[in-house]
Amino acid sequence: MATYIVMLGPPGVGKGTQAKILAEKTGLAHVSSGDLFRDNIKNQTELGQLAQSFMNKGELVPDDVTIAMIRERIARPDCQAGAILDGFPRTPAQADALKQMLAGFGGDVDYVPFINADDEVLVSRLSGRWTCRANGHVFHATFNPPQKTGVCDLDGSELYQRDDDKVETVIRRIQVYSEQTAPLIKYYREAGKLIEIDGAQPIEHVTAALMKAVSK
Ligand code: AP5
Ligand code: MG
Repeated sequence: MATYIVMLGPPGVGKGTQAKILAEKTGLAHVSSGDLFRDNIKNQTELGQLAQSFMNKGELVPDDVTIAMIRERIARPDCQAGAILDGFPRTPAQADALKQMLAGFGGDVDYVPFINADDEVLVSRLSGRWTCRANGHVFHATFNPPQKTGVCDLDGSELYQRDDDKVETVIRRIQVYSEQTAPLIKYYREAGKLIEIDGAQPIEHVTAALMKAVSK
């Protein structure tokens, strides 16, 4: 039976950082809606163009195109054993769609780690973030610096700062999260899937808490 993990939490709390580590440790595929949109932007697809117009303002990309993109992604062979979903779902409509998609494979969402931290922590994490061009690996100027400035430790590609990590866009992203995504906390708590994790701890401590949570 496949295992599906939904990483829930505000922008900058460490969903991507932890999803990559967890994917390595569990062998499950890492499916990040934000990374998929950024790949589309890089490849100048129609979807990329549409997504960029929302992402640059810190707004959510419309549900219909986001759901279609994830439906196609999780049907691929590397998701056969399951997936770690990072950044999806982000609205109740997306959560309902996910439930339906997984039911089609005879599965369901198994674990929803909700990683949380205060707004000041989020802002300081996003303002120091450096992301790798090739594979979206993330570093932080202070908390998780690369060995060589501007170069990804893992694949040697260039590190860049995301357009939506500007302070005004970060503030909007946090607001959008509170309005549109936070209702999912209740949704998954009532479904008995939510596992609360303190995201203000160092990276290794968050990983340990997550591994404990998903091995139950
Ligand atoms: P997305 O790419 O998903 O961005 P986000 O949710 O805003 O989350 P981030 O990637 O900014 O943060 P993260 O939690 O992954 O943190 P990270 O691990 O990088 O989405 C971008 C946009 O795409 C959205 O605004 C929207 O427009 C669109 N979109 C995406 N999905 C969508 C959907 N489902 N529906 C509609 N629209 C969608 O860590 C941050 C930094 O902190 C890094 O520098 C890292 O090194 C550092 N760090 C991490 N953990 C720690 C720690 N424990 N201690 C110290 N530093 C740490
Ligand atoms: Mg991320």
